Amino acid sequence: MKANNPFYFGRMVKGNLFTDREKDTERLIANFKNGLNTIIISPRRWGKSSLVQRASEKINSDKIRVASLDMFSIRTELEFYTEYIKVILVATSSKWEEHLKILKEFLKQITPKITVGIDPDHTFSLGFDWDEVKQNAKEILNLPEKIAKSKGIRIVVSIDEFQNIAVFNESLAFQKMLRSVWQRQEETCYCLYGSKFHMMQELFERQSMPFYRFGDLIHLGKIGEKEWTEFIKERFENTGKHIDDVYISKIINDVDKHSYYVQQLSHLIWEKADTEVTSMVYQEALDDMISQNALLYQRDTELMSSTKLNFLKAIASGVKQNLSGKNMVAKYKLGTSANVVKIKNHLLSEEIIDIQNKIVSFIDPVYELWFKREIL
Ligand SMILES: Nc1ncnc2c1ncn2[C@@H]1O[C@H](COP(=O)(O)OP(=O)(O)OP(=O)(O)O)[C@@H](O)[C@H]1O
Ligand SMILES: [Mg+2]
Repeated sequence: MKANNPFYFGRMVKGNLFTDREKDTERLIANFKNGLNTIIISPRRWGKSSLVQRASEKINSDKIRVASLDMFSIRTELEFYTEYIKVILVATSSKWEEHLKILKEFLKQITPKITVGIDPDHTFSLGFDWDEVKQNAKEILNLPEKIAKSKGIRIVVSIDEFQNIAVFNESLAFQKMLRSVWQRQEETCYCLYGSKFHMMQELFERQSMPFYRFGDLIHLGKIGEKEWTEFIKERFENTGKHIDDVYISKIINDVDKHSYYVQQLSHLIWEKADTEVTSMVYQEALDDMISQNALLYQRDTELMSSTKLNFLKAIASGVKQNLSGKNMVAKYKLGTSANVVKIKNHLLSEEIIDIQNKIVSFIDPVYELWFKREIL
């Protein structure tokens, strides 16, 4: 029988598809136990959602309940409150009769609109009236705290794609209120993270923003070389295929230990290899990975101004700092020094580059590979 491909890339990974991150998991669990708010920031697809899910599964118990809210499709305050109430109810009691009891007890001023399906335990949907919600916003935000106190439990509210809050109407005022209510809670803590790296940095790392210093800020690192090596080797061996250490190092280097791409490239190599990974298999898989992502990269690059493109060309050819210096501006045709500053800010907010200690780098290692091939 043919074994299934042991690599996965896409949304969250769990079980034995999840590797390493032991220290990060411990830190999250400790924060949850101690009621400490946590913020997780990293570039796209390094493994934030998987990590939080992992820690949540480990800690979820009678005494500590995790309510998970995904703001992926949430754009308004009303949608936010509705989902917030739902996930908290679902996390703290399993029967919908009890949900109603809790609502009656703790949200006295609000009359929910309830739709119950054929199987009430699974198709139970709640709706609220905007005016009622607006009038009682603080009460809603305090719902987990009230439930926690009355049940003698603790609640962790985990919120993915939190940066969507920035597109709400009057977002700043809303953020201020959230913070002021949430930070007074004793039995409830929050874990906030999201896939938009730059927006998350703006929300949490700017002194003027309401959520500045809201909690333990984790800059999630990459999974280590040793852990990836073991992970890849084992998955090949367990499915009757062999991969030499040389190719494992190549995978790790070519995609710069990026979680999603390590899995994608390994997936493609595994698929192509009969029983043994050869240099031809490797090359084909690498080409496939680049072309599978190429459409996206083309779109990002097509409309770029020529100075922006020149800036990226400089980075791709190894020049990583002092690009606003006179010589560099002339050599790479970057316009003016002031223009370079603008370009940098654009590329930062578009999440194409990152700057650490003045060193500029591509955020997406496969975009860099593609760029070197097609543009440089
Ligand atoms: N601990 C891990 N072990 C193995 N693979 C992982 C791990 N974490 C992430 N990955 C790989 O990266 C992919 C993306 O993971 P995940 O969705 O958790 O990242 P994310 O940081 O939440 O992404 P986004 O920024 O898009 O929200 C997974 O599908 C998987 O291929
Ligand atoms: Mg995610």
